[in-house]
Amino acid sequence: MKSLRVIMIAVLVSILGINVATARHHGEGGMRDWVTRDGLMHLISAQRGILQNIAKEGSAEDAAEFIRAANALSALLGTIPSAFEKNSRPDITRAKPEIWSDWDNFVAVANAQSIVAASIATTAMTQGLDAAKAKVGELDCGSCHTPYRN
Ligand code: HEC
Repeated sequence: MKSLRVIMIAVLVSILGINVATARHHGEGGMRDWVTRDGLMHLISAQRGILQNIAKEGSAEDAAEFIRAANALSALLGTIPSAFEKNSRPDITRAKPEIWSDWDNFVAVANAQSIVAASIATTAMTQGLDAAKAKVGELDCGSCHTPYRN
């Protein structure tokens, strides 16, 4: 009887162990999503920084780099929905649950910002750098961060 109890305890311990391992595995999955999202946001931030710098003190010879950055920013903003598709919120995240409870609007806000960036590139190509510089301020990251980021 004593050995049966030892076996049952051993079985319980191993089941609990598997549960802990599985929980940690899920946590790591969420961490991977966060790393992707955080990396994406920093790429977005870098491209917007290039636009802001050129808008402030750039000259005509920066036009090609400005157009490149605006197009890259538009593409990066367009990938936000796929990066957030899975509902995962590891402890470190600043993503609010409203992203998933209000998914269609989240996608619409991401797409709207992607279109603003594309129109900055188009303006630079069709009306010149000075006209496009004036539009950099139309990017509104807060339109998403305010409702969807802690
Ligand atoms: C459609 C939504 C959306 C748009 C648009 C968006 N962001 Fe974010 N951003 C988020 C969310 C959500 C987080 C938090 C992600 C997390 O922690 O899981 C975030 C996080 C960040 C971070 C990471 C550091 C931090 O403070 O959490 C930076 C930097 C950032 N965003 C910059 C920008 C910039 C710059 C723009 C505009 C050019 C922008 N974002 C546009 C949703 C968005």
